Amino acid sequence: MTAGSLILGIESSCDETAASVVKDGIHVRSNIIASQEDLHREYGGVVPEIASRAHSARITQVVQRALDEANCNTQDLTAIAVANRPGLIGSLLVGVSAAKALAWSLGIPLIGVNHVHAHLYAGALDTTMPEFPALGIVVSGGHSSLYACHSPLDLTLLGSTIDDAVGEAYDKVGAMLGLDYPGGPRVDALAREGDEHAHDFPVSRLSPASLDFSFSGLKTAVLYAIRGVPERTNEGTTFERELSDLTDQQRADIAASFQRAACRAVVIKAQRAAQAAATPYKSLLVGGGVSANSRLRAELTSLAADEQLDLRLPKLPYCLDNAAMIAGLAHHRHTKSDHDQLTLNASPRAV
Ligand code: KG4
Ligand code: ZN
Repeated sequence: MTAGSLILGIESSCDETAASVVKDGIHVRSNIIASQEDLHREYGGVVPEIASRAHSARITQVVQRALDEANCNTQDLTAIAVANRPGLIGSLLVGVSAAKALAWSLGIPLIGVNHVHAHLYAGALDTTMPEFPALGIVVSGGHSSLYACHSPLDLTLLGSTIDDAVGEAYDKVGAMLGLDYPGGPRVDALAREGDEHAHDFPVSRLSPASLDFSFSGLKTAVLYAIRGVPERTNEGTTFERELSDLTDQQRADIAASFQRAACRAVVIKAQRAAQAAATPYKSLLVGGGVSANSRLRAELTSLAADEQLDLRLPKLPYCLDNAAMIAGLAHHRHTKSDHDQLTLNASPRAV
């Protein structure tokens, strides 16, 4: 059994290079995030090769800044944690290599963490540990999943998306509406100007007991609302109109109606999962970039009140990819002396 911890976390699974120092799994001493949004914007999405090169160029500086801001040096650290799965393999390898080099040179333990599970830990940072069992919802650019959480590290997957992740749907709808990448926060902002009842977009429920998500039908309905129903001929597909034919108000109405349907779909499944639990959940853990969404936060707040769950919505800096959630979750393995070997590898999948 290891007592207190001061863990350096490293996150590089997608397009943020991040490092953080966290004390005892809760107290965030520093949280440095170098976003690559500017590098990927012109491509409308993350380009894996550009992402891994940028991680390599930035990782040393990001780690140094995390140590400086935490007012500590490497000798103070008790372990090095890194997101080693799932994600873009070239990106993950940069963080894993940096973490191994640090752990080996300092002679301290290395801990590999599941990035998606860490998102569900974000609501504990700077506050207190939630009570378990908890229902977990991950809503990010790569994942939309529901979990039964028996402890921070012991999670059972209840359902996940059968097509797009909710953040991916936000980003694609953002692109359809002519917004820059990533579209999620921009659709959220535009939706505030619109009428959410202007379009009756489909809220995917799947079969009555399903805890899976689907966003592709909603995405197609939004495309048709913007461009009209397409006509397919031998010459190809033609649409009735262009995005530029829509007024600003019409675009905002589409954003608001999309947001209503997307958030309803998430909340309906979360409610189903809460009501289907054999042992009632005590907490509702939420994580991933879309947990920054204003409407989803409001809807989950009422769901938690209705179902009497202690809601753990992360603070905004911990919603998107960050390394504090990695260092925080790793603490729970460190206290059990559950460490990884220096042979730790990165994996694009969850295992
Ligand atoms: O968790 P995250 O940083 O990366 C992944 O692990 O995927 O999530 C990024 C996603 C993007 O799809 C982004 O558009 C979305 O989170 N996002 C939002 C908002 N802020 C970020 N989606 C809706 N509303 C927001 N306010
Ligand atoms: Zn993420």
